Amino acid sequence: MGKHTLIELFSSERIECRTRELAERINKDYAGRPLVMICVLKGAFLFFADLVKHITVELEVDFLRAASYGDSDTPSGAVQLTKDIELSLQGKDVLLVDDIVDTGHTMAFLKRELESRGVNSLRIAALVDKLVRREAAVAVDYSGFTGAYGYIVGYGLDFAERYRELPAIYELKAE
Ligand code: IMP
Ligand code: MG
Repeated sequence: MGKHTLIELFSSERIECRTRELAERINKDYAGRPLVMICVLKGAFLFFADLVKHITVELEVDFLRAASYGDSDTPSGAVQLTKDIELSLQGKDVLLVDDIVDTGHTMAFLKRELESRGVNSLRIAALVDKLVRREAAVAVDYSGFTGAYGYIVGYGLDFAERYRELPAIYELKAE
């Protein structure tokens, strides 16, 4: 992609409001149960941080990083765990938090991987669910925004490692 412009899709106020709503649902659903929330690096780092600030149930946090090898534009379904968590998940209720679920291959892989570690339950939260592009059967339990968005950046999301620091979310348009 050569020259491109950013068009605001979700303001920081809208993201903050939506994040708070999701946290309230999570607090209700896990009331009285300790929870492990896992951040999928790097894209989810701001969403994760803002989400956990509103969590009121007993909480542990951890971090992992997944990479799909091959051409980054065409997720092949070949996913690798490049940084693992440190906590044991045996018997735990786990909420996996990612930035975007697109084809679903990354989440399908992570779900399988973490479920094999003896979790009591595993759910998925994502800031953005690009549902219409789904190839792998993955359901997002807590979705911030669902829709047929184009390529988006900001609020943790990057294009070639740029724009992660922006407080709002933008659609990237080629000029
Ligand atoms: P999936 O395996 O196709 O679901 O890929 C999901 C991953 O691709 C996300 O976790 C993001 O890291 C990345 N991704 C997909 N769409 C976008 C986008 O619009 N902007 C930035 N990253 C994206
Ligand atoms: Mg990601």
